[in-house]
Amino acid sequence: TERWVLVPAAGIGARMGREIPKQYLPLAGHPLLSHTLENILSWPGIAGIAVCVADADCWFEALPEANDPRIHRVAGGAERADSVLAGLRYLEKHAALGAEVLVHDAARPCIAVADVERLMDGEAPHGAILALPVSDTVKQVRSAGETEIERTLDRSRIWLAQTPQRAPVALLRHALEQALADGVAVTDEASALEAAGFSPRLVPGSRTNIKVTVPEDLPLAEFILATRRQ
Ligand code: C5P
Repeated sequence: TERWVLVPAAGIGARMGREIPKQYLPLAGHPLLSHTLENILSWPGIAGIAVCVADADCWFEALPEANDPRIHRVAGGAERADSVLAGLRYLEKHAALGAEVLVHDAARPCIAVADVERLMDGEAPHGAILALPVSDTVKQVRSAGETEIERTLDRSRIWLAQTPQRAPVALLRHALEQALADGVAVTDEASALEAAGFSPRLVPGSRTNIKVTVPEDLPLAEFILATRRQ
C-alpha cells in the first residue's frame, strides 16, 4: 500500500499570541515546521508529504524543505478539517488508488519514529491513531466556560488523541466530507470516522509527542528534541 503524510499547517496559532503563526516560530534555531518536516522525511516508506498551507502564507517557500521533491504544497482551508479535506482531495488525484494517509499536525515536531512505526504496524482498514491514557482526573462542566463541576468522568476509559492518525485516503475523504456536511465537530480525523460508524483503533503513544500550543510549550519541545539527539 502506498503511504502518504498529510500535514495541516494552515492555522494561525491564536493561542500562541504572536504575530507569526506558531508553525514558523523558531525552535532550536529553525522554524517549528522545518523540524516536523525533517522528522517526517525520516519515516520509512513514505511516498510523499502534502503540506496544507494558508493562501496568504509567505513563510513556507522560505523553508529549506519547500524545494524537496517529496514535499507538495496544497492550499489549506478555514478550519483544520477543511485543510485536511483539501489535502485528501489532492491525494486522491496524486496518490495511488487505495493509498493510505498519516495525518500529522505541523505543531507536533517531537514525534518519535518508533511511535510512527508502531502505528503503521499491521492493517488498519478503519483507521488507527496514536493516543495516551489520561493520568489526571477528568472533570466535566455543563457548558464551555463554566467552572462549576457537573461530574467526574471514568478516567480508565479516557484517551487523549494525538497525531499521526492513519486511514485509507478514500475512506477518510468520504467520512470527513459527510461529517462537515452534517455539522459534526471534527477536531481530528478519527472523529469523522467515528461519525461515519467506524471504530478506529488506539495505539499507545508517548508523552513526548506534545502539540505546541502555548508559549510554555516551545522550551519544552526544545528540551525533548535535545534529549533525542544525544
Ligand atoms: O489549532 P490546533 O493546534 O488544533 O491546530 C492543529 C494543526 O492544524 C496545526 O498544525 C495547524 O496549523 C493546523 N490547521 C490548519 N488549518 C486551519 C487551522 C489549523 O491546517 N484552518
